[in-house]
Amino acid sequence: MRTHYCAEINEEHIGQEITVSGWVASRRDHGGVIFIDLRDKDEVLQLVCDPADNVEAHKIAEEIRDQFVLIVTGKVRARGEGLENPNLKTGKVEIVVDKLVIENRSLPMPFDLGDERVNEEIKLKYRYLEMRTQKSYDIFKLRSKVTIAARNALDEMGFLEVETPILTKSTPEGARDYLVPSRVHGGEFYALPQSPQLFKQLLMVGGFDRYFQIAKCFRDEDLRADRQPEFTQIDVEMSFCDQDDVITVAEKLIYEIFTKNGYTIPTSFKRIRHAEAMEKYGSDKPDMRYDLAMVDVIDIFGRCDNEIFSKIAASPKKNRIKALKVPGGDTIFSKRQMKGFEEYVRKFGAQGLGYFQMKEDGLKGPLTKFFADEDIKAIIDRCELVVGDVVFFGAGEKKIVLDYMGRFRIYLAELMEIIPEETFEFLWVIDFPMFEVEAGKVKALHHPFTMPKVSDKGTLDYDEIEEIESIAYDIVLNGTELGGGSIRIHKEDVQTEIFRLLGIEAEEAEEKFGFLLEALKFGAPPHGGFAMGLDRMIMLMAGTDSIRDVIAFPKTQKAQCLLTQAPSPADNEQLKELSLRIRQIPTA
Ligand code: AMO
Repeated sequence: MRTHYCAEINEEHIGQEITVSGWVASRRDHGGVIFIDLRDKDEVLQLVCDPADNVEAHKIAEEIRDQFVLIVTGKVRARGEGLENPNLKTGKVEIVVDKLVIENRSLPMPFDLGDERVNEEIKLKYRYLEMRTQKSYDIFKLRSKVTIAARNALDEMGFLEVETPILTKSTPEGARDYLVPSRVHGGEFYALPQSPQLFKQLLMVGGFDRYFQIAKCFRDEDLRADRQPEFTQIDVEMSFCDQDDVITVAEKLIYEIFTKNGYTIPTSFKRIRHAEAMEKYGSDKPDMRYDLAMVDVIDIFGRCDNEIFSKIAASPKKNRIKALKVPGGDTIFSKRQMKGFEEYVRKFGAQGLGYFQMKEDGLKGPLTKFFADEDIKAIIDRCELVVGDVVFFGAGEKKIVLDYMGRFRIYLAELMEIIPEETFEFLWVIDFPMFEVEAGKVKALHHPFTMPKVSDKGTLDYDEIEEIESIAYDIVLNGTELGGGSIRIHKEDVQTEIFRLLGIEAEEAEEKFGFLLEALKFGAPPHGGFAMGLDRMIMLMAGTDSIRDVIAFPKTQKAQCLLTQAPSPADNEQLKELSLRIRQIPTA
């Protein structure tokens, strides 16, 4: 139904007869002559219907409306002087229509295609119309190229692509499971995988050595701008490897993906220990496109003549006093803004937000009176202050201070517009803690299959469980967690011990993960791997801030598909077959 795609037509075709097909992007009637912008998958071509050339075609053109489907034959000619459109590949030519077929009609568009201001709900309901925009096509083209580049790179590195089950047993990654009732086994359920984690480990026990998968994962969790209930990972696992081997593979993979798609990035990335990232940036996924690192001033504040600070400083393990310098901040921020900063951090649990200003005649601020001269000097030296700088400080419980100062760092960077666009700053965050304790409950920070770091004697020595580190690493890009991985536990006794520390007793471990524990007893090799969020990667590459833009048929923040209206009720017959009865529908 075409001799060419629109994008292929240029001055070289002048005089030739061609056939193109696509949708009417716009139609303009210039007193007799009708101009139509015809758009196919990725370019627009101008059609001209002049009654002087062809009465019949012009008559049909009068009927045409936006988004009608046309098949058009005509001659290519140069556009008139001054009528060229430099924004189009086809901008120097147009088609004098000879034969025009309306292949299908369209209802009026429910929204202006490509208008960024349109309510997202309507765009999601008519997702297939939103797809007719150039922006959408470009994103999905990039997504396709990225998966192909990933497959090729992994294939070259000797990885085998293997599909793992979707109807399976729970593979915990810290979210709720999506459950699928079994008809054959009434009252029993499959879980959709939160990741292929356990299966990829079993593939290593199976001796496949190097595995990958472009894997669909399902997590019932609170959704955010960079989360969907159903998303895709580039999932990788390898045997007989240490952390450096895995990182090398991941860096090569990322390098290939980015460079094959026209982005320039380095071949390897900086690494930072988790503890250092938290202390300096108040985040386990710091954005390295700008500096604004914090420094510790708890020792200096401990000597000051203010009871609040000296009390906080008396427990340096539990508490923190952190300084965050903003170069030139004294001239940037107004008094009102400085007040607003305090309100901002209070939302995240801060008791207040102190500051010093570095003036010509020394360090100024409401709190300087509590410090001896040498400690004022110590602050200036520690924070490397020069005239015009402002330094903010937060004091209190470690977790709270690091959290709000970390958020404040990002807030300031956005406010000051110092985040360079179109740069990619990758960072490995390594040496994650093995566990975190939330409301008295011990949880795995990555997942329970991560190898803990053991002492030279091979034992887990610790005073507090949160001190145990793991061989786990995250790859962070521009402040977003792009992926994560770890070296895994490949010995059954270690795995059982970790389950025990997580409060999963032997019986429960057997019921939930018995198949894994058994497999570990059949010669499981040392192994490790990682998974990267494909959707997040495309988001960052395409420079969009919603994950929904890069998923063909995404769900809303409430996990609904507005196009198909899923989820939807099941009829009684189906429920009966599945041995299910709806007792009560919770109110949303
Ligand atoms: P993790 O849970 O860190 O690790 O997931 C890896 C990456 O997947 C992406 N991701 C998501 N993307 C969109 N929506 C979501 N709801 C979502 N959840 C996660 C993120 C994340 O970094 N099995 C381990 C990997 C391993 O250890 O090999 C795992 O799944 O980009």
